[in-house]
Parts: sequence; C-alpha cells; structure tokens
Amino acid sequence: MTSKTTHFGFKDVEESAKAGMVHGVFTNVASKYDVMNDAMSLGIHRIWKDAMMDWLAPRDGQRLLDVAGGTGDIAFRFLNRAPNAQVTVLDMTESMLIEGRKRAEATTLADHLDWVVGDAMALPFPDNSFDVYTISFGIRNVTRVQDAINEAHRVLRPGGRFMVLEFSAIPHPGLQWAYDRYSFNIIPPLGQMIANDRDSYQYLVESIRKFPKQDEFSSMIRAGGFEQVSYRNLSLGIAALHSGWKI
Ligand SMILES: C[S@@+](CC[C@H](N)C(=O)[O-])C[C@H]1O[C@@H](n2cnc3c(N)ncnc32)[C@H](O)[C@@H]1O
Repeated sequence: MTSKTTHFGFKDVEESAKAGMVHGVFTNVASKYDVMNDAMSLGIHRIWKDAMMDWLAPRDGQRLLDVAGGTGDIAFRFLNRAPNAQVTVLDMTESMLIEGRKRAEATTLADHLDWVVGDAMALPFPDNSFDVYTISFGIRNVTRVQDAINEAHRVLRPGGRFMVLEFSAIPHPGLQWAYDRYSFNIIPPLGQMIANDRDSYQYLVESIRKFPKQDEFSSMIRAGGFEQVSYRNLSLGIAALHSGWKI
C-alpha cells in the first residue's frame, strides 16, 4: 500500500508526518511569535484582524470557537467588542496557548476565555455548539484542510457563521512577483535575526504559496456545506477573509 503524501512548504512529506513538523515550527517560534508578526507585516496583520472583526460584528452572548488561535489575537479582539461573549481558543501547540495566557488581556478577560489543546481536524466539541467559528492564519497549516472545514460545519449551530483569515494571492502577476521577492528575500533572514530561526520562516513563505487561491478555497468552503460563501481581499489579496453560513 502506498502512503499518502502532502506538502510541508515546498517539500513533499508523508501525511502522517506533517502535523508534527508544523507543531515543531510553532513550538520554536512561540515566544517570538507576536513580535515577529509585527516585524514581518509592519503591523498590518493588526489591520487585517480588525477587518475580520468589522465583518463578523461580534455580539454579547455569542459563543466563539477560535481554532488555531495561538496567542489569542482573535479572541481578545472579539471580547473587546463583545465583552459578554464566551470564547474558546483551540490550538494544537501548547506553547502558543501558554504565550497567549501570559498576555495582560488573558487575566482581565479570564472569565470569558477557555484555552484548549486540540486538532482542527477532530474538534473535541459536540455538534451545533458554537455561534461563530474563526481561524486566522491557521488553516493553511492543517494537513487536510477539507476535514477542518467539515469539522467547523459540524460544531457550528444552524445559523452559525464561519470566517477564515488567511494569506492569499494577488490577482495581478506583476505585483505578485514583487511581493514574492519581498517574501523570499526578507522574511527568512528577518526570522533568523529576530527569532534565530530561518527555517520556520522559510516554511511560512512557502506554505503561503501552496495554499489554494481565493476561488478554489471558496469552493472547498461550499463543499463543507456552507452557504452564502463570499470573500474580501485585504491589501490587494496578500490576505483574504472568507465567510460562510451554516443554514
Ligand atoms: C500562524 S499561527 C496563527 C495564530 C493566530 N490565530 C493569529 O492569527 O495570530 C498558526 C497556528 O495554527 C496552529 N495549528 C496548526 N495546525 C493546527 C491544527 N491542525 N489544529 C489546531 N491548531 C493548528 C499552530 O499551532 C499555530 O499556533
């Protein structure tokens, strides 16, 4: 029997090996994750995350599941806009969650936050148990993306909202070329300088290129059972927000 392969950045690896490699990357970068995000994007990831909140329009009383929630950026933003929401942050890398729990907001918002170690492809929650599901810069790291989308659909209640923030593609070849030059020439050396870890940031830029473009990813969201699927490009398509509803 031949074993299945998938990609880890530009490398082909056994499907069963990928999660461990991704876990290794985020364990390595956890303590420098927040500072690197600001350095690489010149702070623009904050604007994208705020745009996600603008489109989601959080409301008090909602139960949010933030998958691949890492150090809590989405959870804290959601609770800042809806202080009486209840948020579960799930991530497979415990060191990322530990960094999140060290942040000041984690203490002030503690009554509204749960931190859970788990896998996006097999969520440890019953059917129909959340109003909103978010995943920000997480889904491209998941071994079987379609499984994660299907799981999101399962745990959302009917009427629930699914939203993804992810790196995407610029629909203009010249601009995409310039952005590629920036990514491959600047980001891995910056990772080396700030986090003493070139390889993790080489993986980051490669994984972005392997992720499906806007229209293909929209089709996967529809295949997971979501309706009224749409997307908005951010910064010309460097990133995109994808939205769907469980009807
Ligand atoms: C780039 S970080 C994103 C963190 C945060 N959501 C943000 O926007 O800043 C990606 C996160 O995805 C997590 N991750 C990757 N694969 C996962 C999976 N299968 N299940 C749960 N978390 C996963 C990693 O551990 C990492 O913390």
